[in-house]
Amino acid sequence: IASSQVSPEGHLLIGGVDSVSLAKKYGTPLIVYDVGQIRQQIRKFKQVFEEEKTSYAVSYASKAFATIAMYQVAAEEGAYTDVVSAGELYTALKASFPMERVSFHGNNKSRAELEMAVKNHVGKIIIDNFYEIKLLKEVLQENDSHIKVMLRLTPGISAHTHEYDQTGQIDSKFGFDLNSGQAAKALQEVLAEPRMDMVGIHAHIGSQIFELNGFEMAAQKLMQVASSWREKYGYTAKIINVGGGFGIKYVSSDHPLKPEAFVKAIVETIKQEAAKNDYPLPEIDIEPGRSIVGPAGYNLYQVGSRKDVPGLKPYVTVDGGMGDNIRPALYQAEYETVLANNLKAREEEHVRIAGKYCESGDLLSADAFLPKTKPGDILAMLDTGAYGYSMASNYNRNPRPAVVFAENGHAQVVVKRESLEDLVRLDQSYQED
Ligand code: LLP
Repeated sequence: IASSQVSPEGHLLIGGVDSVSLAKKYGTPLIVYDVGQIRQQIRKFKQVFEEEKTSYAVSYASKAFATIAMYQVAAEEGAYTDVVSAGELYTALKASFPMERVSFHGNNKSRAELEMAVKNHVGKIIIDNFYEIKLLKEVLQENDSHIKVMLRLTPGISAHTHEYDQTGQIDSKFGFDLNSGQAAKALQEVLAEPRMDMVGIHAHIGSQIFELNGFEMAAQKLMQVASSWREKYGYTAKIINVGGGFGIKYVSSDHPLKPEAFVKAIVETIKQEAAKNDYPLPEIDIEPGRSIVGPAGYNLYQVGSRKDVPGLKPYVTVDGGMGDNIRPALYQAEYETVLANNLKAREEEHVRIAGKYCESGDLLSADAFLPKTKPGDILAMLDTGAYGYSMASNYNRNPRPAVVFAENGHAQVVVKRESLEDLVRLDQSYQED
């Protein structure tokens, strides 16, 4: 926590707004974003490309946090975005996100999803598999349309991250395999289809990655593929998309590079490879999700019950949990937590922060070093902005929290808290005949 984020009375400030008053006003659990920080990160990514004088697209991977307000901010900052479902695309449409800046991803896009993408003229479809080529071809014919496409390749690179977060290894459900000739065959099929404009190639090696090496290898691999396709088939990929996955710092033992440093290294690798192979410098696209919204998000909870277990860390229970942030339960993800209503208090005990859900695995933190807390205190978990709200559920029929955007001392609700009525909105009663 920066000193500028501590109010005179020791409260946590988010976007210049007192988090404790936000918790009072809007209730807890509450998700708050520092919008300025989101903007800053997009700008830093863009700045790398501007300095490197390359054409580019910073495409926000909206699966990390997809709401109308977020698409609006991304659009305002000149970002592109990628969507992976009709639902994300619909939200982007509702936000009036410019459709030509949207790419559509996914390893099993339905015909209905492809149709929606085609009818709304999204910028690019990132094709994942042969079935999709066939489906898209049919949809384009039926709608008498054209669309830009890219091919997603499996580069054969295992990123050092949680195994659920790896996507680039050979044995992956995503993309066309390079070694077996699948990718070259997909290229032929797409080039033969006049309704598809094949603009480039894509790879994404995983998420929450700290090593530069994997990204450099992926960039190199994509350039090698592009050069060999140019030689063999006379096809020149104009866009190289290296995906996202830039790791962020969650806890003090994490030491990632700055997200923009990854990008600089990727751009330099691509420039070198292009020079080496006499390849025209392509447009370079990136798809960061976590690094744009993760550090900007805070989950606010109110402390309730406590259980002391002799000889072990006490359980301090909060009013949220795995329904609003499943990452600790699902990936053993760790976060830092602070006492938002008294940042000046001295930490004095190691506790476990438990959620309110009916599962022993619903622990938000296995080890938080906090001042002594009492019921009614407000805890803030830090860096929760990516894959928190977007993976939220109604488990135990708990309503999902509200989301607030805070910037320059002003706060605004951008997603309302679900009500109990919302929870039964789709339910129908049952009568036996
Ligand atoms: N591009 C593609 C094709 C992706 O599949 C992903 C993430 C991204 C970009 C963005 O990656 P990022 O920059 O956010 O790391 N739920 C997991 C993360 C799943 C990531 C899925 N794909 C988690 O909470 O750690």
